[in-house]
Amino acid sequence: MSWKFFVSHSLPLFFLFFFYSFPLISTKHNDDPTFKTMHDFSGYPVDESSHTFTPSNSISLSVDIQALQKQIDELSTFSDTPAPSVTRILYTENDVLARRYVKNLMGLAGLSVTEDVVGNIFGRWDGYEPKLTAVATGSHIDAIPYSGKYDGVVGVLGAIEAINALKRSGFKPKRSLEIILFTSEEPTRFGISCLGSRLLAGSEALAEALKATVDGQNISFLEAARSAGYARDEDDLSRVFLKNDSYSAFVELHIEQAPILEEEGISIGVVTNIAAPASIKVDFEGNGGHAGGVLMPDRNDAGLAAAELMLAIEKHATESGSLDTVGTVGILELYPGAINSIPSKAHLEIDVRDIEESFRNAVINKIHKAAKSIAKKRKVTLSEFKIINQDPPAHSNGSVIKAVVDASDELNLTYKYMISRAYHDSLFMARIAPMGMIFIPCYKGYSHKPEEYASPQDLENGVKVLALTLAKLSLR
Ligand code: GLV
Ligand code: MN
Ligand code: MN
Repeated sequence: MSWKFFVSHSLPLFFLFFFYSFPLISTKHNDDPTFKTMHDFSGYPVDESSHTFTPSNSISLSVDIQALQKQIDELSTFSDTPAPSVTRILYTENDVLARRYVKNLMGLAGLSVTEDVVGNIFGRWDGYEPKLTAVATGSHIDAIPYSGKYDGVVGVLGAIEAINALKRSGFKPKRSLEIILFTSEEPTRFGISCLGSRLLAGSEALAEALKATVDGQNISFLEAARSAGYARDEDDLSRVFLKNDSYSAFVELHIEQAPILEEEGISIGVVTNIAAPASIKVDFEGNGGHAGGVLMPDRNDAGLAAAELMLAIEKHATESGSLDTVGTVGILELYPGAINSIPSKAHLEIDVRDIEESFRNAVINKIHKAAKSIAKKRKVTLSEFKIINQDPPAHSNGSVIKAVVDASDELNLTYKYMISRAYHDSLFMARIAPMGMIFIPCYKGYSHKPEEYASPQDLENGVKVLALTLAKLSLR
């Protein structure tokens, strides 16, 4: 019987007790291929100096998929828009309720729960060598307007279920395992993506900028944080920064948000790179005027300048020379916003990405040039061209990749190496820890819309791979 078979099919309990009764050293002379120490199981060399013997020499993972699905469904009800859409914006009432829901599940899983001043939430399972740096996992639960219920949530609730599955199996971690719920991965409220993980990774610029950042209603970041119970007596957000050696590894479980795994019938995506995103805010200003009164040759319509820039963005992203370059205008606002008024101002927010920073930056330069020449041609003012962030790409760490691949192999799951064009908190965690990501298929690749869906089987596979990966990393 193969080890893979053993992992996926529970052996009778008496077999396990039989195995457990052997001291660690005797396994070296044991010919039975199903007989594994936790070190064998981890795939890493046995530490000869360690005399610690954990009773859990083998694990058989069982995921409670019904419980997990129920939690995903329940969490989705904390939403500002009706089902099946989910809208959960940072520090709103529904965000606070959803956070409470997750903290409760962390508590039920026996994790010790702490929060930092911006509301990054940490649930820790102490290892038997608690002084070693922990292994972390996690994701986000905020959801952009009219989004779905799986983006981010799978990496938080799935991680809690992975810990539950490890606990049920009798596994004892050597390094502590920690789940992080990251504050505001989505940029919806304050225009800054991966706000929590950016701060954890030590972004001085962000800690400073947040002191003066306001949302669309002119509510300051600190005021909003306080209304949710955070940053009470604190405006020094640099307290959130983590030290570089806080975690020995970080691994995030996420839906793919693209259709490749589903189309190819592959269970697991092993992420090798995360694309480098940049966001830009642009304003054009013209004279506006009466839609009937001002003749066409006399206009300088800021809206038309925006329309032309949008087409230029499509062209430059398409012709960048890299298939991975993508450019999107997701926000376009025209002022004063009346059918019978020529737009006097147009505000655009542009998202450009590639896994190669140089391709992405070349496109940004072309967009800037296009904006200037369109403004000149249309006799409008380019009153703002502001790069909000221009993040470098992240590369997954070889040993975390290997742990994910080994876990998939041992679970008899097909896998494929892939890049992530979506960004994730992992992009920033990679700055302070060896990082890896596990993707699962999602229906037609749909994401950031209510139709987002991952099947129970794919969820279960993802949670198992995450659990086994965490187990391996914790034993290193
Ligand atoms: C994250 O949600 C992204 O926009 O990639
Ligand atoms: Mn998202
Ligand atoms: Mn996400």
